[in-house]
Amino acid sequence: MKIITVLGARPQFIKAALVSRELRKEHQEIIIHTGQHYNRELSDIFFDEMNIPQPDYNLGIGSDTHARQTGQMMIELEALFLEEKPDIVLVYGDTNSTLAAALAAVKLHIPVAHVEAGPRMYDKTIPEEANRVVTDHISSMLFAPTPLCLDNLHREGLTKGVYLTGDVMLDCFLHFSKEAEKRIRILDELDIKQGSYLLATVHRASNTDKKTNLQEICKAFMELAKDIGLVFPVHPRTEKYLKQYDLYQTLANTPNVHLIKPVGYLEMLVLTKNAKKILTDSGGLQKEAYFAKVPCITLDTVSAWPETVEDGWNMVVGEESDRQQLRRENIINAIRSFEPNKKQHNIFGNGKAAEKICDLLVC
Ligand code: UD1
Ligand code: UDP
Repeated sequence: MKIITVLGARPQFIKAALVSRELRKEHQEIIIHTGQHYNRELSDIFFDEMNIPQPDYNLGIGSDTHARQTGQMMIELEALFLEEKPDIVLVYGDTNSTLAAALAAVKLHIPVAHVEAGPRMYDKTIPEEANRVVTDHISSMLFAPTPLCLDNLHREGLTKGVYLTGDVMLDCFLHFSKEAEKRIRILDELDIKQGSYLLATVHRASNTDKKTNLQEICKAFMELAKDIGLVFPVHPRTEKYLKQYDLYQTLANTPNVHLIKPVGYLEMLVLTKNAKKILTDSGGLQKEAYFAKVPCITLDTVSAWPETVEDGWNMVVGEESDRQQLRRENIINAIRSFEPNKKQHNIFGNGKAAEKICDLLVC
């Protein structure tokens, strides 16, 4: 079978790493990189560290408005799909690259398989929500990572070709942990100790593009850093806005705040596993905090992974009554007071999602 995998952004490289390895045991895989992410620390580093085969094509689309970026991807993907004639197009997650590939494929009557189908935030102002909903509804195979995702799909009438597989991010977390612990020295490099720092990431449009939200987040970080170290690998989108709002230098000059470039997957695993608590608006990092049993504070009004909230390991700080506005005191109080449940339930599967997906794909 000939499978085209379309990737474009950081979390997709990670999600594809082990599925690709598994697929290639018996099938032909062609990887198309849309070029949505292009900085080395958002793209190439993952191919190198996680041994992901180099893309067969890189479309080099880069950053643009949603419509222009998605449209340009569709034009180029259509041409390649026509040339390569795949049996199936495989997409991951909820980025513009996911949507562009799914739309381009379905119009050519090529079946689409969607890994990480079914998360819902029920807010159409979130760009990823439109991407996931549309992709799910035009895919022929839907791989749901959790029972809740499966229920969400069923509620929308999607029942054919829908499978509960577990989460490929758990596969990666388990697979790469040993290597990360053996090889990575990032705690020494930053001169921080296990359990003695907070780990933070921010990149959602609702937080970066809205000045008051980014201000509240930064003020909370600076207040928290009076008592504890704070490691903040900064996404380029966030760096741009921090500079635009005159927050970057203040944050960088705050004692105990480690403002660093985005790190590779292995470095991030070590930072995650050894953090005291995590502050993030990243969907992927919320899950990894859960895998690592590190309490997570979600910098949003809703989580893409409510399973982790319900299980007592994640707390959302935005107030439903005051949508879109985060408050520094809520963030600070959450970090100081949130304690997780001791027990975890088996939400994300058994670490064998990649194998299961490959078996289903070819049956
Ligand atoms: C994208 C995804 C988001 C995902 C995130 C993972 C969409 C709509 N959003 O958001 O779902 O969680 O990736 O990180 O698809 N930039 C660079 N270098 C790069 C890439 C981006 O400098 O290599 C900067 C540019 O200023 C760009 C901005 O970041 O305009 C945003 O990049 P974009 O890919 O549009 O969205 P992300 O915020 O990265
Ligand atoms: N990540 C990383 N380096 C960083 C920040 C995040 O490797 O500096 C990893 C993180 O561990 C997770 C994934 O990137 O596996 C999450 O991607 P991101 O936050 O960009 O997107 P989201 O999950 O929100 O779509």
